[in-house]
Amino acid sequence: MKSFLSTKTMAIRGGTLILMLCLIVAVNAQDIGTDNSTNYDAAAKDFGGIISVKPLAFLAPLKSDDLARIVRSAYDSDNLTVAARGNGHSTNGQAMAKGGLVIAMRSVESGHFRLVKANGSAYYADVPGGALWEDVLDWCLGQGLSPRSMTDYLALTVGGTLSNAGVGGHTFRYGPHTSNVVGLEVITGKGEQVVCSEKENMELFFGALSGLGQFGIITRARILLQPAPEYVRWIRLVYAEFDEFTQDAESLITAPEGQSFNYIEGTAVVNSDDPINGWPSVPLHPNQTFNSTLIPKSAGPMLYFLEVALHYKNNDSRTAIDATVDVLLRRLRYVDGLEFQADVSYRDFLLRVKQEEQEARVQGAWYKPHPWLNIFLSRTDIAKFDQAVFKTVLKDGIGGRLLVYPVLRHKFDDRTSLVLPEAEIFYIVSILRLGLPIPNEPSVESMIAQNKEIIKVCEDNAFDYKLYLWNYETQEEWKTHFGKKWGIFAGRKMIFDPKAILSPGQNIFTRV
Ligand SMILES: Cc1cc2nc3c(=O)[nH]c(=O)nc-3n(C[C@H](O)[C@H](O)[C@H](O)COP(=O)(O)OP(=O)(O)OC[C@H]3O[C@@H](n4cnc5c(N)ncnc54)[C@H](O)[C@@H]3O)c2cc1C
Ligand SMILES: *[C@@H]1O[C@H](CO)[C@@H](O)[C@H](O)[C@H]1NC(C)=O
Ligand SMILES: *[C@@H]1O[C@H](CO)[C@@H](O)[C@H](O)[C@H]1NC(C)=O
Ligand SMILES: *[C@@H]1O[C@H](CO)[C@@H](O)[C@H](O)[C@H]1NC(C)=O
Ligand SMILES: *[C@@H]1O[C@H](CO)[C@@H](O)[C@H](O)[C@H]1NC(C)=O
Ligand SMILES: *[C@@H]1O[C@H](CO)[C@@H](O)[C@H](O)[C@H]1NC(C)=O
Ligand SMILES: *[C@@H]1O[C@H](CO)[C@@H](O)[C@H](O)[C@H]1NC(C)=O
Repeated sequence: MKSFLSTKTMAIRGGTLILMLCLIVAVNAQDIGTDNSTNYDAAAKDFGGIISVKPLAFLAPLKSDDLARIVRSAYDSDNLTVAARGNGHSTNGQAMAKGGLVIAMRSVESGHFRLVKANGSAYYADVPGGALWEDVLDWCLGQGLSPRSMTDYLALTVGGTLSNAGVGGHTFRYGPHTSNVVGLEVITGKGEQVVCSEKENMELFFGALSGLGQFGIITRARILLQPAPEYVRWIRLVYAEFDEFTQDAESLITAPEGQSFNYIEGTAVVNSDDPINGWPSVPLHPNQTFNSTLIPKSAGPMLYFLEVALHYKNNDSRTAIDATVDVLLRRLRYVDGLEFQADVSYRDFLLRVKQEEQEARVQGAWYKPHPWLNIFLSRTDIAKFDQAVFKTVLKDGIGGRLLVYPVLRHKFDDRTSLVLPEAEIFYIVSILRLGLPIPNEPSVESMIAQNKEIIKVCEDNAFDYKLYLWNYETQEEWKTHFGKKWGIFAGRKMIFDPKAILSPGQNIFTRV
């Protein structure tokens, strides 16, 4: 048992201090934050490793009632702020609170999972906001069910991804996480516990979804489920020509269900034999080799691969799967001979990035700074972006994953706080610098400069784009980001968090 209260908490005055002390609860060391650090210092760190801001205290309430009391005492104080900290996987201090209270969300009602039957054969999972998606998945799989839409990596909390969007290879079909939640329990910036959905307290429901933690702390979420498949056929298809890659990706995401794959993403790699950044990173299994003599002479500095997966049941015959896959692949124009396939369990497939995490931890890359850049970019601008960014700025690689894949705008709910490009088809471009080796070893500063250069390319060309998971520094920049939606966003803030207590690390509003 261990308290997170630093001696600095003494700075809180009078009754507040007494109340706070009553609420401090100890939690098991394994339960908190990244890298199981249980101490006060962990609240000043995140996966980005770029920004560090010290809070007044790091608190781990076990019940949402206690959390509501903490928020109320912050509301009653002169200047305290409260930041919910999911798993601290932000990259720019979004879950930090300078001189404020950081909440270890993973401790709040941990393990309280419930299955709820909906109409007909549909089921929902009622889960704590601080639950990790990997725990939600395992709990659902135990009942033969699964969430419909998953992110690439699952050591993220439910409340953390719902506060952003939660995108991945199922988004083209089912939308992001925020399109697969039918109800929330939220603690507002006034410390009120509110149940909300499309029908009840709808302003808070849609405000909180992609709300960057600005309107309330999500303590529970009701997630839509479907029957889980047991296996997936996991496939990578290599392209030398960017336009063929994007045409095939777009034809797959727009094909009707049953005439396409269940999961669709894409990646850019350097056209070199660099083991991390080049084509040797493409095969799915060590017993597969990449025959580089098959790369067309016309190829430029980058290659691209579509990553797709087809779900199936244990008892579906492999020959039937082969036949289905053959039909789907026949329409595509990848380089013949540069396709890689593997059959893996559905769970192993969804946990594939966990394996990369384990390797990155061993190499130390996981603990290095991670200046990430995520962009939603209209299909009309993606070819220009390829020329100006992939083939120019990033042609030496990034020591991580360079994702580029299309999704459909109508699968996102426009009533949430998320802002998107105008186009119906837009690309998710994720520059996920993992700290793995890159030739010429650029400094962190030069990677950050590269990100700014890429944003400038988007600005200078007037691309139809929005940044995702970005941390603007001023309210003016946020206003521009939200555009037409700023009025609604600021209006909801006045109602649900009028003193601007919540998630101050987003730098949108100032505590009043
Ligand atoms: C390796 C890796 C892979 C990733 N893959 C994907 C991906 O495939 N798709 C994708 O969309 N994103 C992905 N992300 C980004 C991820 O969605 C964000 O980092 C997100 O913030 C979730 O992380 P978290 O739960 O640790 O939240 P934190 O970083 O702890 O918090 C994020 C923000 O939300 C607020 N917040 C946290 N919990 C709550 C809550 N319960 N209620 C209200 N506000 C809250 C915080 O105050 C903060 O402002 C990835 C990140 C990493 C590090
Ligand atoms: C986290 O916990 C594991 C297992 O308990 C331990 O091996 C590891 O060293 C710990 N990591 C840190 C950063 O403390
Ligand atoms: C809040 O007010 C106290 C007392 O005036 C002060 O010591 C503290 O630094 C302030 N905290 C912040 C984050 O401004
Ligand atoms: C049940 O079905 C009815 C009619 O289709 C619908 O209006 C209602 O929202 C559904 N309820 C749930 C919980 O899905
Ligand atoms: C390669 O490995 C996969 C996964 O272990 C296996 O299914 C496949 O049979 C292997 N192929 C060869 C040619 O060894
Ligand atoms: C690679 O492809 C070339 C051209 O098709 C072929 O001649 C060669 O045998 C292949 N090499 C391997 C190892 O398969
Ligand atoms: C295959 O398994 C599923 C459940 O996993 C079952 O519903 C179905 O009847 C089985 N089909 C055959 C042909 O055995």
